[in-house]
Amino acid sequence: MAAGMAHELRNPLAAISGCVQVIGRGPIGAEQRPLVEVAVQETERLNRIIRDFLQYARPGPFQAAPVELAGLMEETARLFRKSPDMSPRHRVVVTRGPGSTWARADRDRMRQVFWNLAGNAIKAMPEGGLLTVQVSGEGGDRVLLSFADEGHGMDTDALRRYFQPFEGTFREGSGLGAAIVYRIAEEHGGRVRVTSRPGRGSEIQLVLPAAPPLAEPGDGQDGAVAPPPLASPAPAGAGS
Ligand SMILES: Nc1ncnc2c1ncn2[C@@H]1O[C@H](COP(=O)(O)OP(=O)(O)OP(=O)(O)O)[C@@H](O)[C@H]1O
Ligand SMILES: [Mg+2]
Repeated sequence: MAAGMAHELRNPLAAISGCVQVIGRGPIGAEQRPLVEVAVQETERLNRIIRDFLQYARPGPFQAAPVELAGLMEETARLFRKSPDMSPRHRVVVTRGPGSTWARADRDRMRQVFWNLAGNAIKAMPEGGLLTVQVSGEGGDRVLLSFADEGHGMDTDALRRYFQPFEGTFREGSGLGAAIVYRIAEEHGGRVRVTSRPGRGSEIQLVLPAAPPLAEPGDGQDGAVAPPPLASPAPAGAGS
């Protein structure tokens, strides 16, 4: 119901945003210009809130498969390092700890986890600092994904509200990023641990189920990752 409404809000919002931008490009007085800029910024903010809410309330299909998580995190970090959130004072390092880093995971959900947690880490370090993303195997049946920053940290009250939707304190945030990460960990049958020291930094750890490694191209198996599914008659009612 709420998700349906959020979805419906998008079209009129896009229309308002478009109109305001057209007005902004026309000949307007110096007094009106800042008002138009506020309108543009605020429609963008509303758009972000709606997008985040839809991601939270109406996630796409969950598709878990064996994933080499350290590689996926490094690949995501390469994009993230180019994002406007980052500044030259920030560093993001992905490291591979001991043990197998193969997890049974949904690749898109894991990319989302990276963006949400890395985005938070950068916001918590406005003066710059290092974010260390570490992936390691634990006990043979779990994979640990950790995001450790050198930011302002959280006190007990902030920690208590960390996963609560709409309870964020970052400017321009909708307070949904951590709630989405929590939901994603649950979908995987995993969990999230948060530790923080005010003034020193925070560490967010996801514990995910491990998976057997898949054969990779170049290891003598012709890159065959998994046999194709056997052809089977389309189920009744299926079709495009
Ligand atoms: N790494 C961190 N260091 C310090 N505080 C954090 C950190 N990550 C999250 N927080 C605190 O937890 C709150 C909730 O985080 P969350 O990601 O859910 O929301 P947000 O970042 O404010 O908004 P959104 O993610 O929807 O843009 C933040 O607003 C901030 O107060
Ligand atoms: Mg966030």
